[in-house]
Amino acid sequence: MKRLLVLCGGKSAEHEISLKTAKNILKALDRTKFIPIIVAVSRSGTWYYIEDESILETVDKIDDVLDIDSIASLVKFPAYACLSTQHGLAIPIDVALSTLHGPNGEDGTIQGLFELCVIPHVGSGVLASATAMDKDIFKQILFFHNIPTTPSITLTPIDERPSYAAVVQALGSDVLFVKPSCMGSSIGVSKVKNATTFTAALDEAFEYSSNILIEKAITCREIECAVLGNLTPKAAVLGEICPTHEFYSYEAKYIDPDGATLAIPALLDQEITRKIQDLAIQTFKAIGCRGLARVDFFLSPEGDIYVNELNTFPGFTNISMYPKLWQESGIPYPALISELIDLAYDAHAMKANLKVSY
Ligand SMILES: Nc1ncnc2c1ncn2[C@@H]1O[C@H](COP(=O)(O)OP(=O)(O)OP(=O)(O)O)[C@@H](O)[C@H]1O
Ligand SMILES: [Mg+2]
Repeated sequence: MKRLLVLCGGKSAEHEISLKTAKNILKALDRTKFIPIIVAVSRSGTWYYIEDESILETVDKIDDVLDIDSIASLVKFPAYACLSTQHGLAIPIDVALSTLHGPNGEDGTIQGLFELCVIPHVGSGVLASATAMDKDIFKQILFFHNIPTTPSITLTPIDERPSYAAVVQALGSDVLFVKPSCMGSSIGVSKVKNATTFTAALDEAFEYSSNILIEKAITCREIECAVLGNLTPKAAVLGEICPTHEFYSYEAKYIDPDGATLAIPALLDQEITRKIQDLAIQTFKAIGCRGLARVDFFLSPEGDIYVNELNTFPGFTNISMYPKLWQESGIPYPALISELIDLAYDAHAMKANLKVSY
């Protein structure tokens, strides 16, 4: 039996989603192989050890009102790592699965903690996680690998701001998207069609990230591809997101229950499907991902394909796109979780075999 640390909640806008994910994972987890050790992270970022997992059924968010004695942290002992609590428990941890999304969850920080503690963990390591979180760096890597992505301009806080007219000319479109380089959940993302809203959009994006992107807006269908594996990953059938809003905004994702419909599998001809799956695998490898990722695409009416982004821990509730695409491809949710944990051990073993000094 392996002790599986399940981390959930967190500081991001997807706190509640992460709790839902953890509940679904706990229901589906193979209890003949794994003993779950649950940590819920409050919105302030404090870790609480949840001894009685039925508590998760009764809450949809974690506030700092839980027993102060259950505040916990990871500690590296000489032979193993432990979850250590204020009331003196030290629970050995064999493997970790973080369901945290966004900054502090998907950006390499929590992965760094697992790696410092020498704990195998589900998903990508520090570098791939951090790279995928930063859209500007991510695009630079795609560019190097000749993987098509949307034309864009990056602005840093010390850059002189270009005029709307100058950007329209540079990108060849008067409809633009402005977004923070490091965020998620469509927070701080604006669609801009004139000079008046352009300035406000730049101001808003800069509130969330030190660097921002201005992109050409693509008239497109939004296609998503689930990738699973380590060095030789495979791609699932494709899914399509059809937002009912002007774009797949925060409201469409989380507030409006009818904000989008999903088509699984996406209705696409075989050739386009194969091209998108190949590009998803190429992108996964270019970034150096491990375990899982969802690669999101824009498909223009002319058949041009653009990689929009890669999520190293995509939505993972039992009804989220990533698990549904694998379900449709023949891997049910419980088997997917077990496979991801196996992949975590494989990735960890690959690293553990490397010398760290002469
Ligand atoms: N260049 C573009 N052309 C057309 N639509 C776009 C473009 N950029 C963003 N969008 C729209 O805005 C949405 C959010 O953008 P994006 O995926 O880049 O943001 P995000 O905050 O990283 O989202 P996620 O929650 O998936 O991490 C997209 O799903 C799409 O609907
Ligand atoms: Mg997105």
